Amino acid sequence: MNPYDFDYLRKLLKDRSGLVLSAEKQYLAESRLLPLARRHGLSTLAELVGRLKTELATSQIVTEVVEAMTTNETFFFRDKLPFEHVRETIMPALIAARAREKRIRIWCTAAASGQEPYSIAMILKEMERELTGYRVDILATDLSTEMLDRAKAGIYSQFEVQRGLPIHLLVKYFEKAGEAWQIAPALRTMVQFRSLNLLNDFTPLGMFDLVFCRNVLIYFDQETKTGVFNRIARQMTDDSFLILGAAETVVGLTDAFKPVMDKRGLYAPNLAARQAARLGPAAPIVRYAAKG
Ligand SMILES: C[S@@+](CC[C@H](N)C(=O)[O-])C[C@H]1O[C@@H](n2cnc3c(N)ncnc32)[C@H](O)[C@@H]1O
Repeated sequence: MNPYDFDYLRKLLKDRSGLVLSAEKQYLAESRLLPLARRHGLSTLAELVGRLKTELATSQIVTEVVEAMTTNETFFFRDKLPFEHVRETIMPALIAARAREKRIRIWCTAAASGQEPYSIAMILKEMERELTGYRVDILATDLSTEMLDRAKAGIYSQFEVQRGLPIHLLVKYFEKAGEAWQIAPALRTMVQFRSLNLLNDFTPLGMFDLVFCRNVLIYFDQETKTGVFNRIARQMTDDSFLILGAAETVVGLTDAFKPVMDKRGLYAPNLAARQAARLGPAAPIVRYAAKG
């Protein structure tokens, strides 16, 4: 691919998804986009870029290129620790704090093929007794419509259910579907899937008590990460929790969150920063001349 075409692609991806594609990732673009080009009857990446330039931003081929460049790697109970936080720290705290309204809202911001939100749903099912009378909503979003379709179907290969999913949960919450496994309807209905780009406005989603934002910000630059954190913070209640991926942190990017002591990967809204933001810039000191 010539450098001009590669630069065009890099800009398109950054603008459309936040993905920063470094110069040494040209091979990745080539290996992922050449098959896509061929499916559209184009024989080279130069032809594909030419086609992108003449298409409207909303066209199917632009969407396909952006989706083809996302990394969708995920698995059930990935990294284990975040799910221990949910079971042992977060849910007990939220159950106590929401004893009056009995409603808890969870948002999984980059859900990929659904293993993350379904892992949360399994934890909640296992806590059914403690959650009696509570309504818990799980919203799972992603940029990729292909991933969302997979997630909604909830069908996983033998390989996928062998990655991270304890056997007793497989037996309890999945049904055999030919060679594959399908998540049981009772769990599927606990998760609402919706298309959402993390670069867009989150206000229509409402407020959340727990947000998972894992293994997606690693692909963004500092400025984009800061913007996403600050916009997520606005959708979170004062006593809510944020969970990041093992290689992610808020440190040096925003003061909207602070780490929860001794709980790796777990963050809470920084109420002091929140209060300061609500008050706005300090009022100017007005001096009055003494009368008389
Ligand atoms: C590596 S997966 C992470 C899945 C899951 N959170 C986990 O940790 O296992 C990253 C996901 O982020 C999604 N993604 C990438 N850019 C996005 C954006 N701008 N808005 C929303 N989702 C995005 C991709 O489609 C992909 O499914």
